[in-house]
Amino acid sequence: MRSVVTGVGAFLPEHVVTNDDLAKIVETSDEWIIERTGIRQRHKASDDQAVSDLAVEACRKALADAGKTPADVDLIIMATTTADLTFPAAATIVQRKLGCPVGIAFDVQAVCSGFVYAMSVADGFVARGHAKCALVIGAETMSRLMDWTDRGTCVLFGDGAGAVVLEPQAGEGTKADRGVLSFALRADGTKQDLLYVDGGVSTTGTVGKLRMLGNQVFRHAVVNIAEAITMAAEKADVTIPEVDWFIPHQANQRILEGVARRLGLEEHKVISTVAEHANTSAASIPLALAHGIADGRIKKGDLLLLEAMGGGLTWGAVVLRL
Ligand code: ACO
Repeated sequence: MRSVVTGVGAFLPEHVVTNDDLAKIVETSDEWIIERTGIRQRHKASDDQAVSDLAVEACRKALADAGKTPADVDLIIMATTTADLTFPAAATIVQRKLGCPVGIAFDVQAVCSGFVYAMSVADGFVARGHAKCALVIGAETMSRLMDWTDRGTCVLFGDGAGAVVLEPQAGEGTKADRGVLSFALRADGTKQDLLYVDGGVSTTGTVGKLRMLGNQVFRHAVVNIAEAITMAAEKADVTIPEVDWFIPHQANQRILEGVARRLGLEEHKVISTVAEHANTSAASIPLALAHGIADGRIKKGDLLLLEAMGGGLTWGAVVLRL
C-alpha cells in the first residue's frame, strides 16, 4: 500500500507585511532583505487568529480537493512549533473545529522540518492500514515568536498553513507508483545553539523568542539538505534529473539556489514562494506545493522531492509521486 496525496490546500492570513513596513520598526531596508534573502513580503495572523484557525482553513480546502468531508478523517498530524496552547495538541483543536469524528490526532515538532517529519510519520499509519483518510498539516504563527527588535530574525518569518489529504492506494512497489516513495530524516541536537527559542514550559515558564545565528545556520543548510535529498532519492531509486519538481522549505532564496547548484538541479524545477510568503517554518512546503498546483505547473503523476532544514537542527526529504 502507498500513502497517496489526494488533496492539497493552503491558507494565508489576509494581513501582508512588506519589507518597507519592517524598515519602520528596525534598521533594515527593502534592498538588504531582497538581496540577502529574496523575501519581499510575508503574511501575519491577526491577534485573534490562532494557528489552528489557519490550519482549519487549509484543511477545508484540502478535503474539498480530495472530495472528502471532515466526517471521513480518521488521522490528523499537525506539524507546528506555535501551537495554540502548551497542551492539548493543536491537531485535536483542529479536529474539534472541523467537526471530525473521534480518531487519532497529535502534533509533530521538528520546527521547519516539521512537514517532512509529519509526512513520514503519516506514511507509517496510512500505508500500514491504520488510517483511511489522513490530514497532514504544516501550520505556523511564527510572528508570535519574533523579537521585533532583532533585525537579523524578524524580517525572515511569516505565518500560514498548508495541508494534504493522504489516502491508502495499492501500488506495484515501483517508483512509478503514486504516493510516498521514500524519506530520509536527520537530527543533530548538538547544533541547538544555532537556532532555538529562549523560553519553554519546563525551563523559563515563558513562550520565549526565536534566536538564530543566521550565517551559521546558512552554512549547515546547503550541505545538510543536499545530504537528505541524496539519501531519499537513493532509497526511492530515482535520480535527480528524474524529479519533476523540487519543493523546498522556503527559508532563503540563496539556500534554494545553493542546493540546486550543489546537486545540479535545474533551477526552473524549484518551486519558490519565499518572495511572497517568507519562511513559514513547517507550513512552507505544503504552501509551496499548493502554489505550484494552483498555477498549473505541478500535475497529478509528477515526481516531487520535498526537503527542509530547521531548528534542532533537524532536516529531511521526502520523495513522492503526486
Ligand atoms: N537588515 C540590515 N542588516 C542586517 C539585517 C537586516 N534585516 N540582518 C542582519 N543584518 C546585518 C548584520 O547585523 C551584520 O552586520 P555587521 O556586519 O555590521 O555585524 C550583517 O548584516 C551581516 O550579517 P550576517 O548574519 O552575516 O548576514 P547574512 O548574509 O548571513 O544574512 C541571513 C543573514 C539572511 C539571516 C542568512 O544568514 C540566512 O538566511 N540564514 C539562514 C536562516 C535559515 O535558513 N533559517 C532556516 C531555518 S529557520 C527554522 O528552522 C525556524
